[in-house]
Amino acid sequence: MAVLVTGGAGYIGTHTVVQLIEQGEKVIVLDNLCNSSRDVFSRIEKICGVLPTFIEGDIRNRECLDKIFSASSIDSVIHFAGLKAVGESSQIPLDYYQNNVCGTLILCEAMAAAGVKKLIFSSSATVYGEDAPVPYEENMPRGKTSNPYGASKAMVEQVLTDLCASDPEWSVALLRYFNPIGAHPTGLIGEDPKGIPNNLMPFISQVAVGKRKELSIFGDDYPTEDGTCERDYLHVMDLADGHVSALSSLDENGVHIYNLGTGNGLSVLEMVKTFMRITGVDVPYTFADRREGDLPAFWADASKAEKELGWRATRTLDDMMEDTWRWQSNNPNGYEG
Ligand code: NAD
Ligand code: UD1
Repeated sequence: MAVLVTGGAGYIGTHTVVQLIEQGEKVIVLDNLCNSSRDVFSRIEKICGVLPTFIEGDIRNRECLDKIFSASSIDSVIHFAGLKAVGESSQIPLDYYQNNVCGTLILCEAMAAAGVKKLIFSSSATVYGEDAPVPYEENMPRGKTSNPYGASKAMVEQVLTDLCASDPEWSVALLRYFNPIGAHPTGLIGEDPKGIPNNLMPFISQVAVGKRKELSIFGDDYPTEDGTCERDYLHVMDLADGHVSALSSLDENGVHIYNLGTGNGLSVLEMVKTFMRITGVDVPYTFADRREGDLPAFWADASKAEKELGWRATRTLDDMMEDTWRWQSNNPNGYEG
C-alpha cells in the first residue's frame, strides 16, 4: 500500500517524503510544481536511495486523481498542496479559495469514490484567530482569521469535520503547524521561496548569503520582552516526523487535531542573534513598522501530540540554524544552483 502525498515537491512535503521513505513507506507524489521544482526528486533519491513516484498534476483535476487511485493501491493521503502566501491571498482571494478549498473538496470526492478515507491535512496555527490566549490548545474554538489564506484553512477544517460526522469510515488528522524552519541535515533539500521571502527565516538566510541587503524587523514595540514578535519555530524534520506519527492516528476513525510546535516562543531578535552566533555570519537589520495582521506572540501547547502520538519536537534551535545555513550556503539560489 502507498501513501499519496499532494504537494510533495514543496518545502514541508519533500522533508516528509524523505521521512516516509526512511520508514519504509511507498510514496506517490502529486504536485503541479506551481511553487516547487522537479529537481527535488533527484535530491530525495540522493538522501534515501529511492526515487519516489512523481505525477505532475493538479489536485483540482478529478480525472487525474481517479487515474492515480485506480492505478495504485493507496490507503492514505497526506495533503500539503495549496497556496500559502498570506499577503497574496488578500490580493487574489479567489485563487486561494479555488486552490485550497475547492482543491480539497475535489480530492476528498476522488478519495471517497476510490474508498480511500484516511487523510492528513496541513492546517495552521492561524486558525486559532486573533483573540485566542496563548499557549494555543487544540480544544479552543477556531477564531476570527484576518486573511483569505487563514480563512481557507479554517473552512477546510470545517469541511473535513463535517465529512467525518457524515461517514464514520473517514479518519482525518488536522495538523496545525506553528512556524517550520530549517532543512534536511544533508543540505540537499530545504526551503526555496520564489521571489522576495515573506517569512522570517528564509529572509535572514538570504541576507546572510548576500542576496538581500538587510533584514527589516517588523515592529519593536510589541508587548513582549524585547519588543519584537514571538513565535513557536520548529525544525521541518520534526514536523516531517509528526506526519509519520500522525499516520498511526488514522487507525481510529473521526477527526484528530494536533498542534505541531515546540511549545516555546522565541522573539525575532533572538532568532537573528542566534543565527549570527551559530553561523558566524553578520545579518544587518533595521527596525521597521509593524506588519499588518501580525500577532504579538503565540506558541503551541504541544502536549496532546506527545501524549497521543508519542511525538515531540527534539531538534534544537541551534540545529535549526545550522541546517538552514547549510542548505542556503550550499544552494544560494535554491534548486536553481
Ligand atoms: P510549498 O508551497 O512549498 O508546498 C506546496 C506544494 O503544493 C508546492 O510544491 C506546490 O507546487 C503544490 N501545489 C499547490 N497547489 C497545487 C495544486 N492545485 N495541485 C497540485 N499541487 C499543488 O508550501 P509548504 O510550506 O511546504 O506548505 C505545505 C502546506 O502546509 C500548505 O498547505 C501550507 O498552507 C501549509 N502550512 C505551511 C506552513 C509554513 O510555514 N510553511 C505553516 C502552516 C501551514
Ligand atoms: C506567517 C503567516 C501565518 C502562517 C505562518 C507559517 C502572516 C501574517 N502570517 O506567520 O499565517 O501560518 O507564516 O508559515 O504572514 N518578520 C520580520 N521580518 C521579515 C519577515 C518576518 O520581522 O522580513 C517577523 C514577523 O513580523 C513575525 C516573525 O518574523 O513576527 C515571523 O514571521 P513569518 O515567518 O512570516 O511567520 P508568521 O508571521 O508567524
